[in-house]
Amino acid sequence: MGRLVVVSNRVALPEEGTARAGGLAVALQEALQQNGGLWFGWSGRITAHSSDTPRIIEAGPVTFATLDLSRKDHAEYYNGYANRTLWPVFHYRIDLADFTRENYQGYLRVNTLFAEKLRPLLRDGDDIWVHDYHLIPLGQELRRLDLRQRMGFFLHTPFPAMEVLVVLPSANRIVHSLTAYDVVGFQTTSDLRAFHDHVTLESGGEVLSNGLVRAFGRTLKAEVFPIGIDVQPMVAAAEASYRLPSTRRLRRNFSEYRLMIGVDRLDYSKGLPERFKAFERFLEKYAGWRGKVCLIQIAPSSRPDVPEYMQIRQQLEAEAGHINGRFAEFDWTPLHYLNSSYQRQTLAGFYRFSNLGVVTPLRDGMNLVAKEYVAAQNGDDPGVLVLSRFAGAARELTSALQVNPYDLEGVADTLARALDMPVEERRDRWRDLMQAVRSGSLDRWRDSFLTALREAPYSIET
Ligand code: UDP
Ligand code: G6P
Repeated sequence: MGRLVVVSNRVALPEEGTARAGGLAVALQEALQQNGGLWFGWSGRITAHSSDTPRIIEAGPVTFATLDLSRKDHAEYYNGYANRTLWPVFHYRIDLADFTRENYQGYLRVNTLFAEKLRPLLRDGDDIWVHDYHLIPLGQELRRLDLRQRMGFFLHTPFPAMEVLVVLPSANRIVHSLTAYDVVGFQTTSDLRAFHDHVTLESGGEVLSNGLVRAFGRTLKAEVFPIGIDVQPMVAAAEASYRLPSTRRLRRNFSEYRLMIGVDRLDYSKGLPERFKAFERFLEKYAGWRGKVCLIQIAPSSRPDVPEYMQIRQQLEAEAGHINGRFAEFDWTPLHYLNSSYQRQTLAGFYRFSNLGVVTPLRDGMNLVAKEYVAAQNGDDPGVLVLSRFAGAARELTSALQVNPYDLEGVADTLARALDMPVEERRDRWRDLMQAVRSGSLDRWRDSFLTALREAPYSIET
């Protein structure tokens, strides 16, 4: 088996541990540890000039190679095209998207830089796995440098409906770049369908009877590989959380209340203002719950240099202040809005002791928090998951109470229903949910993608 080469904008460097890396980084680390390999990406540093040569760190069987980015490259590639164009368009927020050409040029320039710096590190027989919207053109750039190895790409975000994608002046080039890979993975069937639509209706390609895609002179496999979580560590962390000081303090301070929890990066795709408004409507309509329920919303800052993220932060602060100003009493604060990040160990305890997990993004590729909340529950007395139908996770977690996050009245009613749900129904639903979380684990995601990649190259005859 060849060496695995993972390429992603964010790299979980060994000195940073896995604390802020998230499940994806843990999974990739495992794959790299098993087979040995290389992890290539941005160092997280902004310097006067982008790196000429990658900084190499050897850690056991894994080599990390990272590049610093200049202020201009970082501004145009990361803050610009990746996070002000692709991110909003892929999350159906064309109203927030910026279409300046400079950012697109910067995005292409950094992808070219990554390809040029990665190319000399690659060996024959390597399997290359590129991640997420920051690096879509990387494969095509590597092919230009005469790379013949197998290459796969996984998109962690949604891939938007063709009618939305076409607002991007570069839509066709983005789709063209994807065809440089041998395998392109999406989170859900809707994302795959949108890709098929674009290939067939806008790019003059075709979907063959065996499911392979042929476009721009290449044949590739495009498939759904829903990402999951590493279930056992989350179960173990939740079970052990009784002993954590943070969990004890949570239980002590909230012992009189029923708890709802939300955990999201502070991102407009997560539907936080709508969630706060739905909570306000719930307190208005179900007055009997006043003084008895608290919502804890953990929302660490994300992409703080991007103007739309500054705005959402201000909006949330105002909304939280408004709700607490309207409903709080001297001994009860309904909404606890925490603008900081927590270790997953701590989150496991918070999930475990919350009666409701409230996961209501307006649009999300998958949403791992939904799966973590399920895994952290006590099966004898589990909490209830309230889940947006627009999260990729809703396809698998069909026994959650699914909501339309735009329908504030509906969300408010569902919160009330969840709080009143009898224990038998909670157990039945949780059993189904846990089975779905287990069968769509992170291992399975990684293994099924790598199996598809190792069957490449695909040709019309296969
Ligand atoms: N997370 C964390 N600490 C925090 C907030 C979030 O470790 O304070 C983790 C969370 O446990 C989950 C990930 O960040 O594993 C978020 O993944 P998700 O798919 O829900 O959303 P994303 O941030 O990737 O859009
Ligand atoms: C989402 C994206 C990831 C990204 C993460 C954190 O999960 O799909 O690619 O790494 O958000 O965002 P950041 O901009 O801090 O890397």
